Amino acid sequence: MTTVPAPRPAADRQLLLDPGMDLTLRPMRYPHFFDRFKDAIRNTWTVEEVDLHSDLADLHRLSPAERHLVSRLVAFFATGDTIVANNLVLNLYQHVNSPEGRLYLSRQLFEEAVHVQFYLNLLDTYVPDEQERSEAFAAVENIPSIARKAEFCFRWIDSVHELRALTSKADRRAFLLNLICFAACIEGLFFYGAFAYVYYLRSRGLLHGLASGTNWVFRDESMHMAFAFDVVETVRREEPDLFDADMAQQVRDMLAEAVECEVQFAEDLLTRGISGMSLADMREYLQHVADRRLAVLGIDPMYGSKNPFAFMELQDVQELSNFFERRVSAYQVGVTGTVGFDDDF
Ligand SMILES: [Fe+2]
Ligand SMILES: [Fe+2]
Repeated sequence: MTTVPAPRPAADRQLLLDPGMDLTLRPMRYPHFFDRFKDAIRNTWTVEEVDLHSDLADLHRLSPAERHLVSRLVAFFATGDTIVANNLVLNLYQHVNSPEGRLYLSRQLFEEAVHVQFYLNLLDTYVPDEQERSEAFAAVENIPSIARKAEFCFRWIDSVHELRALTSKADRRAFLLNLICFAACIEGLFFYGAFAYVYYLRSRGLLHGLASGTNWVFRDESMHMAFAFDVVETVRREEPDLFDADMAQQVRDMLAEAVECEVQFAEDLLTRGISGMSLADMREYLQHVADRRLAVLGIDPMYGSKNPFAFMELQDVQELSNFFERRVSAYQVGVTGTVGFDDDF
């Protein structure tokens, strides 16, 4: 993670979670948030650059079990980013009281909108039948494994719904749990689980269009998580007493529930038998990812599981090389500069 500057002196003692709408960009209180905003701008991509039509021939080659997996996956993608965007607007933007932090969140909101458009395009291309497509968009109500994940997300959105200002330590802890939930459990686990299916299919030579778009979404989600963990780290430096043993246990419980939600989704996707991807492997992968999120938060691992998916180990490298290729066209639109790859995801 980026090194977070030491807390400011007591004379200038406005804290990141103090209520209000700080407008002062100079002097800048949190320049590391502004750096993340600039890094994100350099990572701009558009949905039109991803050709999904090349996947259509592959869709006809899938076995019934693989077709079931893909239809569940796109049904999850149909609404996942919209839920994240809603929490960003309703909760994160309201309570992260830093104009440079809000710049980053504005940029993240744009990226979530691009993801929503990407998955809309995916459903329009993969699911031409209107009835089937509307069923995919209703999955949060009708498909139990997706409804359970949505219920988990909505419960955590609602947990801070009444909070208009973080005036007590209890309020701040509640907000931090919401922030950590969306970064570690939703972007950092539900989405990572979904990406694993995409890269598994790519490792079998299937759906390269989806995988190429996923590279960009993956990169964006990694950065969203990194920003959220920067916010957590900044608050920890300013108000270390918020991070007590109860809080750590609540984070563990939340992640354990998220793993169980995602395992139930995996049972649904893999129930008909997918060669080369077992439920046991997926469970181990999810536990491994959950332990990594705990490590970033300075909390002991719960599972001690290894990553069983070689194609996900390779993903980090693949994604970075794509990013460097991408920068050729980024220069063409006049965006220059360098991006650091020091985030361990
Ligand atoms: Fe997203
Ligand atoms: Fe995101």
